Amino acid sequence: MNRNAGRQLIGTGGRHHPGIGGRLAPESAGSHHDGMHFFAIDGHTDDGLLVINHEYVEPRLMHISASGLKLCAEDAYLIDGGRPADDVLKEMNAHGVSVVRIRREAGGRWVAVADPRNRRVTALTPMELAGPVRGSDFVKTKYSPDGTCVRGTLGNCASSATPWNTYLAAEENWALYFRNDDSKEGKPDQPREHSQYRVPRGKTRYHWELADNGDDAFVRFDASRKTQSPAEDYRNEPNAFGWMVEIDPSRPGAVPVKRTALGRFAHEGVVFAPATEGKPLVCYSGDDAMFQFIYKFVSAQPYDNASAGGHLLDDGTLYVARFNDDGSGDWLALAAGQNGLTSENGFGSQAEVLVNTRAAAKHVGATRMDRPESGAIEPTTGAVYFSLTSNVKRKPDEVDKANPRAENYFGHIVRWTEEGADHAATSFRWDLFVIGGDQASGRDLTGRPLDDNNLFACPDGLWFDANGRLWIQTDIGDCALNKGRFEPFGNNAMLCADPMTGEIRRFLTGPLGQEITGVTTTPDGRTMFVNVQHPGAHTSADEFAQGRLGSHWPAGGSAVPRSATLVITREDGGIV
Ligand code: FEO
Ligand code: CA
Ligand code: CA
Repeated sequence: MNRNAGRQLIGTGGRHHPGIGGRLAPESAGSHHDGMHFFAIDGHTDDGLLVINHEYVEPRLMHISASGLKLCAEDAYLIDGGRPADDVLKEMNAHGVSVVRIRREAGGRWVAVADPRNRRVTALTPMELAGPVRGSDFVKTKYSPDGTCVRGTLGNCASSATPWNTYLAAEENWALYFRNDDSKEGKPDQPREHSQYRVPRGKTRYHWELADNGDDAFVRFDASRKTQSPAEDYRNEPNAFGWMVEIDPSRPGAVPVKRTALGRFAHEGVVFAPATEGKPLVCYSGDDAMFQFIYKFVSAQPYDNASAGGHLLDDGTLYVARFNDDGSGDWLALAAGQNGLTSENGFGSQAEVLVNTRAAAKHVGATRMDRPESGAIEPTTGAVYFSLTSNVKRKPDEVDKANPRAENYFGHIVRWTEEGADHAATSFRWDLFVIGGDQASGRDLTGRPLDDNNLFACPDGLWFDANGRLWIQTDIGDCALNKGRFEPFGNNAMLCADPMTGEIRRFLTGPLGQEITGVTTTPDGRTMFVNVQHPGAHTSADEFAQGRLGSHWPAGGSAVPRSATLVITREDGGIV
């Protein structure tokens, strides 16, 4: 499977130096790179817009004032009970999505090129809401009293290109950015729109709501009730997050749009079935949390190449998967009025179903999965693959055939084929493609134990290349890496699988502390881009306080570790 060579880095995130006045350092993209796609310009294979998600930040690596403090990777620290507004602004600017034009020079080196399309979409960028939730009471806020818009996108994990060449970024761990401290008669009193997604009480991920200038763009992360009216506070702000966000990389002035018909959850990513003229458009998405679900959206309007656009994602049916133990499966519609989703049961409108997608999926009896991550679709057969990264909380009496292990530390990959090879079908047949683990517990498609060349744990990113090879990226948590039961796996890695034979081989292993995230190639397949996220995140609070960072990748020496994009080519210039 390819001797790869000629590794290069582009698009590093984080800092060389801390930046000025809330701005990122000039040589930085955003932080914590994840999903990514290469959009060729005018059909050129070596000139395009690389679009990259930035999932989150590590404040300790962004601000000089963190030096000497005992901080873990995601800790934000208060100064005089608040956070300097400039620090908050900088962290918000490091979230979101980057559009960067890159070009391959004659010598083979890729460089960033100045272009009017280069831009950053951040946690502050104004966006529209579209689909059934737009204008509903659930999303009316002080910023948008008519419930039509919101500032920013958060937790952008995986992504996909649409058939009409725009980009969809998933909002995954957005709930942590908010708090809601409301109580009633001494007990916590959050609406289910917050509680079912685990919006915290008392604190937020980075304390942005405590910015010392009290700016409206920052205080909105406290979603506790402050006034008599939803149009005067931010009790509904969390409801404007948890969606798929469409961005048009070719039109820098285009306002990003949150497509609410695709459901609200911890969207890991999205993957489109091949678009067929005259047939509905279909895409799949997983909710990355323990015991959550796998979804698909089927457009109401048929796909028409000439007129295709984001409107196809605003009207259609959202389904959730039930995996039966006999190898069959059913898609259950999450449509107001169907499958018990009625006002008597708390689902009075399609907006209410969608804002409460998790509750609706549970109500219709979908299968509770082991943290659904990315999906990928085999180009020749149309089989859909989804990684289930782990679920340590599954008890022995909760296992089923699709989630067969109690205390599932190592994860597995499920796949299915739709009835009649029609992605819009409402039933399917499924099996398990691989069970992650070491020699003792990992098994490939044929039942062979995994071995030194392919053992892996916690599959996360999945992607099929044009030649039908399945690429698997792993995400063992940075605190667990290289310790205890995870010792045999080493650092997070990227593997390549043959979907026909089940053969799997390791392709690359990343540096210390990181996870391997997005992957895309140029149209000719000769250049592959792969993201390395959060190198050094395993550095403990004590080590950080002592200035002993667990990684200096990629710059080496004493540099601060940074997320970065690998450029991978073959020595012979062939297809990777
Ligand atoms: Fe952001 Fe579920 O990985
Ligand atoms: Ca992921
Ligand atoms: Ca992950």
